[in-house]
Amino acid sequence: MADNKNLYYICGLLACGIALGAFAGMSGKSSAPSAPAAAETPAAESEQTPEAAPAETDTGITVAKVAESGTGITVTKADDWSAQFPNQYETYMMNNDNSEVVEYTEEHPYIQRLYAGYGFAKSYGSARGHTYVITDLTSTGRPHKLANCFTCKTSDFTAKALNDGDAAYAMAFEDFENQITDPFGCFHCHSNEPGTMYVTHTYLANALGSDLNKVDAATLSCGQCHSEYYFDPATKATSFGYTSMAGMNPDDILAYENAIVDGEGNMFADWVDEENGIRKLKVQHPEFETFLGEGSPHGSSTSMLQLTCADCHMGTATAEDGTKFTNHNWTSPLDNQALLDANCSQCHKDLKAEVEKIQGEYWTRVDADAEQLKSLNDKLTEAINAGTIADDKLEDCRMALRSAQWYWDFVFVENSNGVHNPKLTAHCLDQAETFMEQASGLMQ
Ligand code: HEC
Ligand code: HEC
Ligand code: HEC
Ligand code: HEC
Repeated sequence: MADNKNLYYICGLLACGIALGAFAGMSGKSSAPSAPAAAETPAAESEQTPEAAPAETDTGITVAKVAESGTGITVTKADDWSAQFPNQYETYMMNNDNSEVVEYTEEHPYIQRLYAGYGFAKSYGSARGHTYVITDLTSTGRPHKLANCFTCKTSDFTAKALNDGDAAYAMAFEDFENQITDPFGCFHCHSNEPGTMYVTHTYLANALGSDLNKVDAATLSCGQCHSEYYFDPATKATSFGYTSMAGMNPDDILAYENAIVDGEGNMFADWVDEENGIRKLKVQHPEFETFLGEGSPHGSSTSMLQLTCADCHMGTATAEDGTKFTNHNWTSPLDNQALLDANCSQCHKDLKAEVEKIQGEYWTRVDADAEQLKSLNDKLTEAINAGTIADDKLEDCRMALRSAQWYWDFVFVENSNGVHNPKLTAHCLDQAETFMEQASGLMQ
């Protein structure tokens, strides 16, 4: 990253116009780092015209339509759009090429201890192409009880939730399984109007409230699933631990989940560690919160060039007849040479090397922290069994290790391995280390 200063210099002083030019037709927007106030100007909410989509606000953001619920919605399947939208459909089917799966319990054996007592300790396959979602869900070694597991897997479930509300989430897994006709599907992002951007997963709209229109529709479309959620203990509905963009960060989401307390005074937990009684939380793929978080080079409101998830993971492709369209094969930007050449190379001479460097440092720290967390979990178990930890310290120690694991997991399960937001990643690991020190002190 020796080029950092150059990048800032070129981008900040000279090339904002060039950057905008390069992103013509994409949603890239530039704003001088010295003028965050301008970048923070919210999308003019009063000026949106939801009827005429895709609408653009005066800040250049494409506003998403929000799907209506309770209206007898049915799904037009991806296959049924193939004749009308051959380019989008063909590239969508190319997701089948992304078929490799890594088994995390083997690659990172420490999770067998950190997640012990929870399904992910037994089986945790890495993500692959969108078209595999249903196969991967039904073939995991993890137990599934409720249909809420289908939230991010099939548009049939998205329609079910729109039609039936929270009751859909509490259905038995098996009762819904045989209703699936459209694994993944266009519906998630376009409803039944391909090309128009929709939020069909209404919990996202609920979580962002009036901030929804501050986020570009293309980023929202991914945030419907690539985000941190929990199942509401009462309704089993998929829910987010924030109610505005201000609360969309690991510190506030932890506080939010800590404040959910049951009738017996226990804090919300995804599961309880059977050996040492820590009430643990499992973070899910928080790409949305990480990418939009403070410090994100291309995602925060103060970035000098704001991009959407689609700008880096979809990009523009050209068909044989010269038609330009949005590539619907969701890949790593490093696997999309056309995108790198056309849109990124003017500022990133060797993005692959930058990414490798960040990810290398990430794994060194993530692995070391995980090993330490693992041994602190075991140490607490031993202290409990030997009766060497006083009751008043025990609860504090459990709390410290719950927090440490939360922060560590927020980074471990984020699919970019540190790249979406190196600053937020460092903050999380700093927090994890501070809480581990605290726990260690309590066990002296
Ligand atoms: C995960 C979200 C997502 C899914 C699923 C999805 N799209 Fe899109 N689609 C997008 C985004 C993002 C754009 C670009 C919108 C923009 O630039 O404002 C887009 C654009 C389009 C456009 C506008 C023309 C173009 O190419 O830019 C069409 C038509 C389209 N999609 C069809 C489809 C079809 C057909 C399917 C299913 C086979 C599908 N989409 C599935 C996100 C999605
Ligand atoms: C309906 C839920 C849903 C939506 C919407 C969605 N994704 Fe995904 N995505 C998933 C799931 C689930 C997987 C993992 C699939 C598997 O492994 O079977 C995945 C996998 C991926 C992968 C492959 C990851 C890998 O390691 O190979 C990429 C890249 C990706 N998504 C990007 C995006 C982008 C960008 C958007 C928005 C334009 C988006 N996704 C929208 C659910 C979704
Ligand atoms: C500035 C470009 C950029 C933006 C914007 C961006 N990402 Fe990424 N993303 C990356 C890079 C780079 C990687 C690491 C790819 C690799 O390791 O090959 C990555 C990795 C991922 C992965 C894992 C894919 C894989 O093949 O391993 C997923 C899933 C993902 N991003 C989703 C998202 C979502 C969802 C958003 C928006 C909330 C988003 N990204 C925004 C650049 C971006
Ligand atoms: C106008 C210049 C500019 C353009 C164009 C640009 N970037 Fe960046 N990008 C930057 C700057 C500046 C940073 C912050 C570097 C830092 O913090 O060290 C950055 C950071 C990143 C990061 C975070 C990791 C890192 O290297 O710091 C990723 C990933 C990334 N960009 C991907 C992309 C992709 C993919 C594209 C093309 C779709 C792109 N960028 C286009 C200027 C640009």
